[in-house]
Amino acid sequence: QVSSLQRVAEPSSSAHREDEEVEEEWAGLGFGLMPTDYMYVAKGSEDHHFARGQLSLFGNFQVSPSAGVLNYGQGLFEGTKAYRKENGHLLLFRPEQNALRMQMGAERMCMPAPSVDLFVNALKQTALSNRRWVPPPSKGSLYLRPLLIGTGPVLGLAPAPECTFLIYASPVGNYFKEGTAPLNLYVEEEYDRASRRGTGSVKTISNYAPVLMAQMRAKKRGFSDVLYLDSQTKKNLEEVSSCNIFIVKGKTIATPATNGTILAGITRKSVVEIAPDLGYQVEERVVGVDELAEADEVFCTGTAVGVAPVGTITYRDTRLEYKTGNGTICQKLSSTLVGIQTGTVEDSRGWIHEI
Ligand code: COI
Repeated sequence: QVSSLQRVAEPSSSAHREDEEVEEEWAGLGFGLMPTDYMYVAKGSEDHHFARGQLSLFGNFQVSPSAGVLNYGQGLFEGTKAYRKENGHLLLFRPEQNALRMQMGAERMCMPAPSVDLFVNALKQTALSNRRWVPPPSKGSLYLRPLLIGTGPVLGLAPAPECTFLIYASPVGNYFKEGTAPLNLYVEEEYDRASRRGTGSVKTISNYAPVLMAQMRAKKRGFSDVLYLDSQTKKNLEEVSSCNIFIVKGKTIATPATNGTILAGITRKSVVEIAPDLGYQVEERVVGVDELAEADEVFCTGTAVGVAPVGTITYRDTRLEYKTGNGTICQKLSSTLVGIQTGTVEDSRGWIHEI
């Protein structure tokens, strides 16, 4: 609980910026690291026990050159956001969902996992200790980045004997350089993101560097990002490098089912739950790439990305265009979700933790 917030040293003067200076930064927030004051660190061992951790000043830390995470990529990450409400309190969105996803990922990556209670408490401590870095309402949010990494030494391929659970924070605004403008996606056919029975559904760090090459290539050609297809048939949609995908036709919204290759996004899950309230039926199923030609709207979802409209998708030689802007379901979902997250729309599902 919040009362267990540890007293820790003051940030050093070089790390400590004046509040007025911080205020000025809110205007141009994108999605880059802005170092904050504190991070949370806990250690877990082979016997699957995670001791309660503590806050320390944000900064570099030492690991063995033979740490499991450095040598064999034994690591997971999460992402969630804290928003500042008009009354000054901070709001966290479904943090226990991140905890549960980390637990599932830890099992797959052979690491001990923090309990849901420890995870949520650690998020609260990290958010509260960095509260001066939470942007004012409507200016952005404090992105919280939990990591679970094998920090113990290994040489042969084996689980690291010690793991570290760490959370750091950074104020963020829009994820894409497009801001809130519609995205232009490119359907990637040369590279795959995930394979059947692989780790596509796990938020492991090792799923993310491999997508950089296709992403960089697409960006050089003027696209926002790439959309992956299933590796077996190349006929079905999977996800974008950093977010899930939805297509809209009439009053039906479809998104690829979480079949092991798709990341089970918490924003994805929330959109699936909210859309029926807005008069749409949601289908989680195989979504054919051919359906892109018939769709009225396409949008992406993710913690970092939010609910983002897609304006065009280029598939082979064809550039498909979609409805964006006023009156779209994408816009309604986005404003409903952001409203719940920032405390301006009633949270009838008990998703919010106010701290
Ligand atoms: C998030 O949306 O929080 C993610 O973890 C995606 C990441 C590539 C920024």
